[in-house]
Amino acid sequence: MRSDTGQVFRLEDYRPSDYLIPRTHLAFRLSPENTLVTAELTIERRDGVARNAPLVLDGDELMLKSVRIDGKALDNSAYKATPDQLIIKKPPAGKKFVVSIETSLNPAKNEKLMGLYRSSNVYCTQCEAEGFRRITYFLDRPDILSVYTVRVEADRGEAPLLLANGNPGEKGTLPDGRHYAVWEDPFPKPSYLFALVAGDLGRVGDTFVTASGRNVELGIYVEHGKEARAAYAMDALKRSMRWDEEAFGREYDLDVFNIVAVSDFNMGAMENKGLNLFNDKYVLADEETATDADFANIEAIIAHEYFHNWTGNRITCRDWFQLCLKEGLTVFRDHEFSADQRSRAVKRIAEVRTLRAHQFPEDQGPLAHPVRPRRYREINNFYTATVYEKGSEVVRMIRTILGAELFRAGMDLYFERHDGDAATIEDFLKVFEDVSGRDLSQFALWYHQAGTPNLSVTSSHNPTTAEFTLEIEQSVPPTPSESRKRLMHIPVVFGLVGSDGEDIAYESVEGATVDNGVIHLRKRRHTVRFSGVKARPAVSLNRGFSAPVTLAIEQKPEGHHFLARYDSDLFSRWQSLNTLFTDALISGFRKRRGGKALDYPAELAALVGDIAADDDLEPAYRALALTLPGEADIAREIGTNIDPDCVFEARDALALSIAKTNADRFASLLGRLRNKGEFSPDAASAGRRALKNVLLDYLSVASGDPALAEREFIDATNMTDRAAALTVLAHRFAGSPQTVAALAAFEQRFHSDALVLDKWFQIQAAAPGPASVDTVAALMKHPTFSLANPNRVRSLVGTFATANQTGFHRADGAGYKLFADTVLAVEKRNPQVAARLATALRSWRSLEPTRQGKARQTLLAIAATEGLSADLRDIVERTLA
Ligand code: TRP
Ligand code: ZN
Repeated sequence: MRSDTGQVFRLEDYRPSDYLIPRTHLAFRLSPENTLVTAELTIERRDGVARNAPLVLDGDELMLKSVRIDGKALDNSAYKATPDQLIIKKPPAGKKFVVSIETSLNPAKNEKLMGLYRSSNVYCTQCEAEGFRRITYFLDRPDILSVYTVRVEADRGEAPLLLANGNPGEKGTLPDGRHYAVWEDPFPKPSYLFALVAGDLGRVGDTFVTASGRNVELGIYVEHGKEARAAYAMDALKRSMRWDEEAFGREYDLDVFNIVAVSDFNMGAMENKGLNLFNDKYVLADEETATDADFANIEAIIAHEYFHNWTGNRITCRDWFQLCLKEGLTVFRDHEFSADQRSRAVKRIAEVRTLRAHQFPEDQGPLAHPVRPRRYREINNFYTATVYEKGSEVVRMIRTILGAELFRAGMDLYFERHDGDAATIEDFLKVFEDVSGRDLSQFALWYHQAGTPNLSVTSSHNPTTAEFTLEIEQSVPPTPSESRKRLMHIPVVFGLVGSDGEDIAYESVEGATVDNGVIHLRKRRHTVRFSGVKARPAVSLNRGFSAPVTLAIEQKPEGHHFLARYDSDLFSRWQSLNTLFTDALISGFRKRRGGKALDYPAELAALVGDIAADDDLEPAYRALALTLPGEADIAREIGTNIDPDCVFEARDALALSIAKTNADRFASLLGRLRNKGEFSPDAASAGRRALKNVLLDYLSVASGDPALAEREFIDATNMTDRAAALTVLAHRFAGSPQTVAALAAFEQRFHSDALVLDKWFQIQAAAPGPASVDTVAALMKHPTFSLANPNRVRSLVGTFATANQTGFHRADGAGYKLFADTVLAVEKRNPQVAARLATALRSWRSLEPTRQGKARQTLLAIAATEGLSADLRDIVERTLA
C-alpha cells in the first residue's frame, strides 16, 4: 500500500513542470505475473528552465529494471529510483533527449484496479487519476500532453485481442505462440487517458459515418457469449455520436472507437482516448437480465464517456483541481442527451432527486468542498457528487443566464480557443464572458464556494395598487474551512400562476434584474415588486430547478395543492407535490417521536389518486410523482436528532394512507398497465412499467398480502418487473413463504450471472428492519461473495450502508460494526473502493445522540487503525473533523 505521507496538494502551488514529454513510445511484453514495460520518453526542457535541472518522474509501487539516456545506460549514482519516484539528477544539457525506462509489473496481483491489472483473465488498465505511474515512471500530471505509440505483445492463445488508444498500426506473429500489435494515437493526450486491453473477448461491430463523411469502425468487446447483450450499448453509442454533431457540432476524430466491458472496475467507466473501458454493468443489457434503470444508465454512461472525447480529451484539465472542467461539463452534456432521447421533465426530476440525495448531504456535511476544490490529500476522493452533479448544475445555470444561443456560441468558442489545451475553469468562464459581454465574476463563486445556498421567500399582494411583492433573502451556510460566505449570483426561473393555472403577465418589475422569466439575485435581499397584478397569484419559484438551492417559501398547503395540479412547469408541479409529502412526513416524524398517533390529511391522498389517474401525464412522470421521498431524503429535510425508525414509520404510514384511499383506482390502473406484447426498452414502455410497479407496491401495502407481488413475480417476462416484484416481497413481506420461495427461485435461475446476482444481493441488503444486519452478515458468507469485486461489495455492503436506514443505523450499533469491519477488509486490497464506501457515515452528526455516539466510535476505531491508506484516512479524518 502507498503509505500515507499526509501531504496536502494546493491549487495555488500549481507550477508548470520543467520538462515536457512530446513523444512516448511504450512496449508491453504481457504476462500475468511478470509483465515487462519499456517506455521511451522524448523529453524536452521547457524554455527558461536551467540546463541540467533534475528530472523528477512519478512512480507508484514500481520496480525499475533499467534506465538509459539517449541509448546509454546510466551510472548508479546518476539517478535515484524508489517505488514512487525516479530522479535523473543531471539530465543532458541539450534541449531534447530520450529516456528509456524498463519496469516490471505483476498485473495478476494488482487488486487496487489502478494501473495494469487482470479482470477475468483480461489485461486492462485504469490510469485516471494517477494510475499511469503504476505502469512506468512519468510526468503523471494532466498538463503533460504526449503523442503515444504503443506496442502490445502477448501470448496469442491467452490474448488474441490486443488493443490500445488511437488507430491500429502494424501487427504480426512472433515465435513461441506470441504476437503483437502496434497502436498509434495522433492526438497529444495526458497520461491518465492511456489505455491498453489484451485478452480473449467477443466483439460486436458496427460503423458510423460522421457528419463530414468519415467512416468510423465501432467495436464493443464483451465476454464471449454475451455479444447480444451489447446491442443496446451500441445503439446508444451511435445515437450519442450523432447527437454531439447536432447539439454541439462535435465530430469524432479517429478511425476506430472501441469500448471494452470488464467485471472488476472501481467506478462506472473511463473515457480513454478511442478505447473506453467500462464496468460491464454499464454495457450489458437485455430484457432478461437488465432493468429499465440499467438501460437508462447504459445510455447515459455510454454518452458521457463518448462526450468526454471533446470535453476532457481534446480539451483536458490543467491540473486535478480543474476536474469539474471535464466532469461537470460532460455530465451536463449527458443530461441534455438523455433529456432529448427521453422525456425532458422526467429526466429533470430524476436529476434533481439524485442531486438532492447525493450532493446536498455532501454539501451540508463534513465532506463539503467547492465544485473546484482548493486543496486535496487524495484526488481519488474528489470524484464526488459536488464535482460531477453540482458541476453540471453550474453549467446549466450559465445556459440559463446567457440563453441557449449565446451558450452555444460560448461552447463553440471554447472548442475553437482551447482545442489541444490543458485548460482551467477561468478559461471556461472567459469564453462565456467574451461571447455575451456579461461579467461572470460573481457567478464564478459557484465554482469556488462550497455549501448549498438557501433562499427564504415571503410574498404579499396589494389589491388596491395591484402590486405583488416577493421578498427574497439568500444565505449560504458555513462549511468546513469556509465560515464566511460571499453573496452569490442565483438565477431563479419563476412564474406567477393565476387562478386559471395560466402564468399571468405583469406590467413592470423592479427590485432585481428580471429577464426572460429569470430573476437574477445578486444581493442579500431583494424586494421584487411586480405591478399590474390584480389578483394574488401562486408563486412558482425555481422552475426546472434553475439553481441548486434550498427554498424556504411561505406558501400555504392550498398553494402547493394548486400548483401540484395546475403549474404549467412539470418540474414545479412535481416539486409542489414533493413538498406536500415532505411537510407531511416531517410532521409525521415529530408525532412519532413524541409518541403520538400518525394521521395524514385526506386531501393529500386524494391528490395523489388524481395524479395517478391523470392520463394527460406520461406514466413515467406519474411514477415519479407517486414515489414518496426516501427515508434519507426525509432525514435530510428534518436535519437533526434523527431516529431512522421513526422516519421509517412515518413514511410507512403515509404510504398506507395513500394506498388505502386509492386502492380501487390503483387496482384498475395497474390492470390497464400490465405488460402486453413485446418488450421494448424505450422510455414510454419503461414509464408504463415504472408506474405499474409503483402501484404494485401501494396495492401490496393496502392489502397486507404478498399474493399480488408473488403473482407479478411469477408472471414477469422481464427483469424490471421481476426485480420490482421481488423487492416488494423482500421489503414488505420479509420471511413470508412467498418471499423465501421467490428469493430462492431468483438465486437459482441467475446464480451464474454476476450482474443479475448483484441485484439479488442488493434487494436483500436494502430490506428494512433490524434483522437486515444479520442478513447482510450471512450474505457475506455466500459462496459468490467476494471482497475483491467492487460491484459485489457495493451491491451488498454499499447498498446496506446507503439505502437501508433502519438496518445500518440499528440502535445497538451492530450495523456500524459490520460496516467498519468490511471497510477495513476492503481497504487491504482496494483503498479507493473502501474510501468511497466509508463516506456512508458522513451524515453521522444529524443522528439522535445514542446512534451519533456509536457512529463516532466507529469512525474513531477506523481512524485508529495502523497503516491506513491515504484514501481512507482522508475520508475518515475529514468526516470526524
Ligand atoms: N473519468 C471517469 C468518468 O467520469 C471516472 C473515473 C475517474 C474513473 N477515476 C476513475 C473510472 C477510476 C474508473 C476508475 O467517466
Ligand atoms: Zn466523466
